[in-house]
Order: sequence, then structure tokens, then C-alpha cells
Amino acid sequence: MRLLQPEAAARLGEARRESGYHRAALSAVYGRDAAAAAERGDYRGLLAACGDDPFGVWTRLFTVGVAVGERAAATALAPFGLDEALACGLLVRSGDGVAAGWGLQSTGDLAVFSDQRPNTTGGRARDHVLGIGGASELLLDATPRSEVHTALDLGTGCGVQALALAGHAQAVTATDLSERALAFAALNAEINGVELELLRGDLLEPVAGRRFDLVVANPPFVIATPGSGWTYRDGGREADGVAAELAAAATELLSPGGTMRFLANWLHLRGQEWSERVAGWFPESGVNVWAVEREVLDPLDYVRTWQRDSGEEGDADQAAAWLDWFDEHEVEGIGFGFIGVRSTEGASEVVCEAVRHAVETPWADRVEDRFAVREADLSPETLWGASLRLADGVSLQQSAELGGEGWEVDAQWLRQRHGMRYAEAIDPLLVKFLGACNGTAPVRLQIQLLADAHGAEAAMLYAQLHPVLRRLIERGFLTLA
Ligand SMILES: C[S@@+](CC[C@H](N)C(=O)[O-])C[C@H]1O[C@@H](n2cnc3c(N)ncnc32)[C@H](O)[C@@H]1O
Repeated sequence: MRLLQPEAAARLGEARRESGYHRAALSAVYGRDAAAAAERGDYRGLLAACGDDPFGVWTRLFTVGVAVGERAAATALAPFGLDEALACGLLVRSGDGVAAGWGLQSTGDLAVFSDQRPNTTGGRARDHVLGIGGASELLLDATPRSEVHTALDLGTGCGVQALALAGHAQAVTATDLSERALAFAALNAEINGVELELLRGDLLEPVAGRRFDLVVANPPFVIATPGSGWTYRDGGREADGVAAELAAAATELLSPGGTMRFLANWLHLRGQEWSERVAGWFPESGVNVWAVEREVLDPLDYVRTWQRDSGEEGDADQAAAWLDWFDEHEVEGIGFGFIGVRSTEGASEVVCEAVRHAVETPWADRVEDRFAVREADLSPETLWGASLRLADGVSLQQSAELGGEGWEVDAQWLRQRHGMRYAEAIDPLLVKFLGACNGTAPVRLQIQLLADAHGAEAAMLYAQLHPVLRRLIERGFLTLA
């Protein structure tokens, strides 16, 4: 299936480039206030400012989502024809004019067409192809951008992840079950001058037996009642089976040292920690995993969210069946987050962590830092001879009460301005130790001085402090000098 022949796609790409239309250009053309208001869904500034010039027409069609006159549309789309636009679905007739039939979004230098029309959510076809949404952005942000030979995007949809991968991978493969999704991915590849290998099939089946340096997936992870059938969000597996399948395949999919990032929902079942469930998905050896839970919804909020997404919020029977399914399976909540995987040798290690606060982005750097530190040797022997430095942007904060002898500090904690922006409570002994962590003296000397000052034995003190130092290094408060 093709949405446009390559020659027509090239003319459409040319028309878009010639118009200069790009969401990031809105603030330069119409002013920061109008562009910022539009991001929040208030289009009055743009509507007042948009003229009949090509940039204005593309803005009205693809950012604001209103109809424009046929003549203005024909001029703005040239050398792509108005008839061609109506025939392929890019535009639809609306009153006396034409309106957007597809969505057009941008990320970085990429322009991406999809079924996601501006300002609409409901009223979708079953094979609706999503545009760039919040989940796509999260995965884009969490994907490392170092050079690789081979990359895979599983469940590519409009192709946004695959197009971004093409910026740093020599060969990119993108798969999807939906023909329409692959057709949009092909069109977007042509428009952006990118080559992709596009394969159709169910989850891992089209790439069976192949390995990749980097795998990303924003898969159809929604936990729906079986058979609800929205291709963009239901992967045809029960519960969180899509994520479980991807996790189980990590060691077969990744080249040695390879990396995988995927988004997922997971169940919080009565009597079971979510981390136990997620850890159980992975092979017993061959991977380091960091699963980050960004939010948890209770079943009712989850059902409401996804009913709104598909415009089915009035369907009480569907909601009841969905909620019954959650009750029958003892589901208390549904977690959402991303999972970073690194292929390694030896026993697998899976760390699951709930992170609700805003961290310093890109997330890709946070994940890479985490893997790097976990692969470092932080054994007692190695740290004993190492010098430690307090990381940039770490401050000590204290709370105190006024007592008989003036201010009495009752709690102290470290706080990070950068990176994960963690806060961590510490005791007075550690405060003293960290005050001398400037990257010069080895740990053994610092421990000896501290032991002398407290009349303690150095070895005993180190046995007590080593796990704490290790944790502070793993969490980015301390670095090896
Ligand atoms: C959430 S969309 C992905 C969008 C895109 N990758 C992004 O990041 O914006 C999930 C995609 O998975 C596809 N899909 C659904 N079921 C699938 C299956 N069983 N195997 C492979 N792909 C599937 C859908 O057609 C849809 O394009």
C-alpha cells in the first residue's frame, strides 16, 4: 500500500520546504506569545496573524486545524496538486474550502505526516496512524544518539522514531503490523530523504533471527479488554503481554553491547510489587535493565483516559467490561514508564524505580549514566584506593530547631541540581566525609582520618561506609576522580 508515489511525495516534500512551514518556526513568524498560546490550544493569536501566504495557509491547515479557500490551498501546496491532495486524503472538503485530512508535525528537522489531524482526538478509524504524541517524545528523548551500525524501530507507526534513528544509524529497520502505518512511514521517509527498511508483521516475527545495535519501541502497550482492536494501542496480547514479550526477546534481539529502549504499561497486582512483575519478564542472564515508572493510574482513571483517547467515553458497557477485567485479575493500578536495556555478559540485573519528579533531560543521558556506573567496579577493594569528588551541582541542606545551645541540626540531606535531581538524607559522619571529597585524597586516607577523629577502627568504619558510598556513586552524588 502506498499513500503517494515517490515522485508525488517528493513534490509534497518540496511544497512543505518552500512554504517554510515548521512548528518551530511559528514563534519567529508570529511571535512567541502567539506560538506559546497555540501550544496550549489557544489559536486566537495565530488566527489573527495568519495571512494567505503559503506559511499562513500551512499554519491554518496543520497547526490550527481550520478550513482555507481552495485557491489559497492550491497556491500553498504547489508543485503538489490540490486534486492530488484531495485524492490521497491529505486534504478533505470542508464547507466552501478544504481542511487537513492528515496531521503534519515536526521534531528537529523532520516533518512527519500521519492520520492525527490537528486539534482532534476522537473519531478515529481502527487503523488510525498516530502522529508525534507525548509517548513518542518521551521515547525520542530516552534514545541514545551515538553512532550505531544497525537500529530497529518496532511498531513504527508514522515512522518518527525510525526517521530520528536514521540520523545516527547506518541502517534502520522499521516494522509494523499495520499496512497504513507502513505507508505513512514510507511517505515520511521519502519526504525527509531517509532510507528505511520497512517490514510488515506481528511484533518480533519480521526480524526473527536478526540482531541490532539499538532497538526502540513505542509499542501498542495499552492494557485493554481483549478484542477492542485499536491498532495503534492494542497489540493483541492479554494484559501487559506486549511488554513482556519484548523484554523476553532482549537477548535475542540485541548485538553484543547493544541497547534497547521501550515504553510500557505494567500491572500492579494485589499482593505483588510491580518491580517483581517487570523483573520477571527478562531472561536470567545477559541484560542490565533500568525500568523507570513515571506514573500509576488506578483502573478507573486508566479506562477513562483511554476511552477519551478513542472518543468512546460515553460507552458505559465497555467501561464496565474493562473494569470487571481489572477486578477479576486483582489489578490495583497500571504503571507507565520506559525501560532501558543493555546487553551484557553474566547474570541479568533488573533495577526498577519510580521517578515522578522532573529530571534533567535528555533521559537518554540519565540512562547512559546509570548503565556506565553500574558497569564500573565499585568493589570495596577498588573504592579503598580511589579518590572521590562531589558531583557538580550537589548541595548540602539542613533543617534545624532552636535548642538550649542555639541551632540544633535535626536533618541533613544532599540535593542534586543536575542529572536525576535526587535528594538523599545523610548522617553527620557522612557529612564530614563528603566535605573532604574534592578528588585529591584517596578514600583510605579519608577513612583513616575520620576513624582517628572518632577513636574508631578504620576497617570497621569502612565496612559501614562502603555500601553508602557505593549508593551515592550509583545515584550520581559522587564521582570517581
Ligand atoms: C503507539 S504506536 C507507535 C507510534 C510510533 N512508533 C511513535 O513512537 O510515535 C504503536 C504501533 O504499533 C503497531 N502495532 C499494533 N499491533 C502490532 C503488532 N502486533 N505488531 C507490530 N506492530 C503493531 C501499530 O500499528 C502502531 O503503529
